[in-house]
Amino acid sequence: MAQKRENIHKYLFGHPFRTDSVVADIPVSAGEAPYLLRSQDETGEVFRYALSEEDRAYGLGEQVRGIDKRGWVYASWNMDDPEIHENRQSLYASHNFLVVDGKEKFGVFVDSPGKVVYDIDYTTRGEMAIFCGRDFGLYIIEGESVLDVIRTFRKMIGRSYIPPKFAFGFAQSRWGYMNETDVREVADEYGKCGFPVDMIVLDIDYMENYKDFTINGERFPDFPAFVREMKARGIRLIPIIDAAVKAEDGYSVYEEGCKGGYFCKDKDGKPFIVGVWPGDSALPDFLSPEARAWFGEKYRVLLDCGIEGFWNDMNEPSLFYSKDSLARTIRGIAEKEGKNLSLTEFWSITGSVARLANNADDYASFYHETEGGKVSHKEVHNLYGYNMVRAASEYFGKYDKDKRTLIYSRSSHIGMHRYGGIWTGDNASRWDHLLLNLKMLPSLNMCGFLYVGADIGGFGQDTTEDLLLRWTALGAFVPLMRNHCTFGSRRQEYYRFGNRQAFKNLLDMRYSLVPYLYSEFVKSALRDELMYTPLGFLYPDDERAKETEDQMFVGGSIMIAPVYRQNTRGRNVYLPEDMKMVRMRSVSDYTEEILPKGDHYVEMGFGEVVFFVAKGKAIPLAKPAKNVAALDEEHLLWIKYADGKTTYELYDDDGFTTDVREENIRTFTV
Ligand code: GLC
Repeated sequence: MAQKRENIHKYLFGHPFRTDSVVADIPVSAGEAPYLLRSQDETGEVFRYALSEEDRAYGLGEQVRGIDKRGWVYASWNMDDPEIHENRQSLYASHNFLVVDGKEKFGVFVDSPGKVVYDIDYTTRGEMAIFCGRDFGLYIIEGESVLDVIRTFRKMIGRSYIPPKFAFGFAQSRWGYMNETDVREVADEYGKCGFPVDMIVLDIDYMENYKDFTINGERFPDFPAFVREMKARGIRLIPIIDAAVKAEDGYSVYEEGCKGGYFCKDKDGKPFIVGVWPGDSALPDFLSPEARAWFGEKYRVLLDCGIEGFWNDMNEPSLFYSKDSLARTIRGIAEKEGKNLSLTEFWSITGSVARLANNADDYASFYHETEGGKVSHKEVHNLYGYNMVRAASEYFGKYDKDKRTLIYSRSSHIGMHRYGGIWTGDNASRWDHLLLNLKMLPSLNMCGFLYVGADIGGFGQDTTEDLLLRWTALGAFVPLMRNHCTFGSRRQEYYRFGNRQAFKNLLDMRYSLVPYLYSEFVKSALRDELMYTPLGFLYPDDERAKETEDQMFVGGSIMIAPVYRQNTRGRNVYLPEDMKMVRMRSVSDYTEEILPKGDHYVEMGFGEVVFFVAKGKAIPLAKPAKNVAALDEEHLLWIKYADGKTTYELYDDDGFTTDVREENIRTFTV
């Protein structure tokens, strides 16, 4: 029976599609939603709220701009576009949860699989307007504090995904590792430099012509043996799986998909053909439970080779063109051949080519078979990547029900947080992207995504040694710590740079932090809490804390203040209370200093990790090791900021089994 929850109000509009974002059974409330003023326009229902000067709006997960989302218009529409900057409206994910923090405190969750637009203080200063479309659920969540609202929301959407513990180690990646030799070289160089590493990521080149669930036999002549060889060295290979399946006769995955009717279809019921890496490809219909079961089972071929982790990509779904739109565009251009074109005619040519990718008309031209019947993709666009990961995750549970498998995805939607993690897509080697990485962390956590990370060093463009060092110093505190970049860009494996000692310090420090990070991560998942907390959520009466968006609590004990500007030796740090500053070059080489509440200029060298311990708190550290499995967690070193004794709740387990529970927490007196 549905439980009445006083602090959650639920409303349904039109005929909402079942997103499975919410797991709690919540009854529909009577009357109109509190706080919001409802109206209609040509797009459907609009809800408005008058923002006073002191109100702040937090959330929206993977989005541009700050932690406080005021002053821009954001759209939930999963989008593969690597040009990431503050004037974008959508990135790769859609996370429709936001909290208003002012005299009134409440959360809004729009349970919609389609486009939702948030105009927060943009068109009209002092007004937030949410354009929800026609068919959706609306939840208003009340609470005493921002953290209270978030906790209630997180309980509603179910427990966050917990990866195996090795996923807290470091991952080296690059689009362009072509074969065994390339991968071995990375492993060798890491070994030679004494850099710890747990994972090497395989991008699309391990496949045969970019065909999912195939392995290129020339490049990897004995893949299972290679997986074993790497594992014996303590390294797991993490292959990519893309959403689109190459449309090629004789390719069993494509043929089975056609036969079973598992692909998205055009209006005539034929597989809708789009262009992605393999050229003409079909899109598995992840919204159909049968297609999910079919696609999920395909992972077996890699699991049988000993693979224990994957990444899912191109699942917005990304489409470079559709077969029809490409043909139309080429015809249109051909018609202009030999003519003396006006400038507008010329621009219509370049425009028609630019519009090919991720085109709205294409998204409106194919259909899903769902439990509720045939649905246009346009209506459910934002659920695609989510259900791709769900397909994999549901199968992992069947393959070995007791084991956790690593999976992270580019595209996502609330609900997917129960099945896997995310990385935040194709960023670039830019200092503002390092800051964006930091600011996104709490918003992602608010929406249930705990296993998260950004491409360290930047995916696109050329990195610099100092950017990579500063980004790695932040990455040391982020669950998914992956250095990844595109082919053609400057190579950015750590061993390619001069200041190896600095990189080694940072990597070693990350491994020393694993007991703390894993513990804080799992406790956040079990208790529906944030792992990254902005200062303003913890010190709600401190205006300075609220304005400080470039510092963050990581877990309950420490605050970080990463450097994100070039040619600086340190930065200003605001302490909302007295704290102990710890400056570490290694677990056996560090200094501690108690700093009073207020402003401080803190120097931060390249090869050191600086963090701040809150009063009454402690953190465990381990001696660094070459990988997570080799960490000695029996002999922990403790750092605390307390006059006498203090305690720390340490979560730990075997790192693999699905049996993750509160009972695995031990309280240490420090
Ligand atoms: C996409 C991914 C990127 C990957 C590339 C090739 O751009 O976001 O991480 O390297 O595809 O697979």
